[in-house]
Amino acid sequence: MFERILLAVDGSEHSMRAAKEAGDLARAMKSDILRIVVAFDSVPRYLGEPNREQAIQAHLKEANQILQKSQEAVGKIPSESPTELIEGSPAEAIINVAKTRGSSVIVMGSRGLSSIAELMLGSTSHKVVSHAPCPVLIVR
Ligand SMILES: Nc1ncnc2c1ncn2[C@@H]1O[C@H](COP(=O)(O)OP(=O)(O)O)[C@@H](O)[C@H]1O
Ligand SMILES: [Mg+2]
Repeated sequence: MFERILLAVDGSEHSMRAAKEAGDLARAMKSDILRIVVAFDSVPRYLGEPNREQAIQAHLKEANQILQKSQEAVGKIPSESPTELIEGSPAEAIINVAKTRGSSVIVMGSRGLSSIAELMLGSTSHKVVSHAPCPVLIVR
């Protein structure tokens, strides 16, 4: 059970709490893999070069910082911990990775970086819960 955990992070407080829970889960279940995914907005072609390349590099740098922060929140685990940086819609990226990697559980925050506080569930978590190929652990 929960051999292959997929953790989705966007740098928000909620996603860092999700990272901590994912680490606890990996330790408790002695999981084989805790994969971490960060999606970043696609960079439009009309920007032209070198602007487009610079924008991509800035996104990658930020995504790598988020990955590093989440690895610290996960802590020491007995599992392999590969990372994936994906350009495009976060919900699609998370669902596709879960499908192609055969994840047994997705761990994510209930909210993210958007400031629309009335919603109980953020738009990404809502989409993932609706279309995920496996159980989803939503961390509040
Ligand atoms: N770009 C992203 N890459 C990976 N995971 C993400 C991304 N955006 C959101 N998530 C995951 O989804 C959770 C909920 O965020 P989201 O639904 O986008 O809320 P909000 O609408 O408040 O931004 C986050 O805590 C994180 O776990
Ligand atoms: Mg969001």
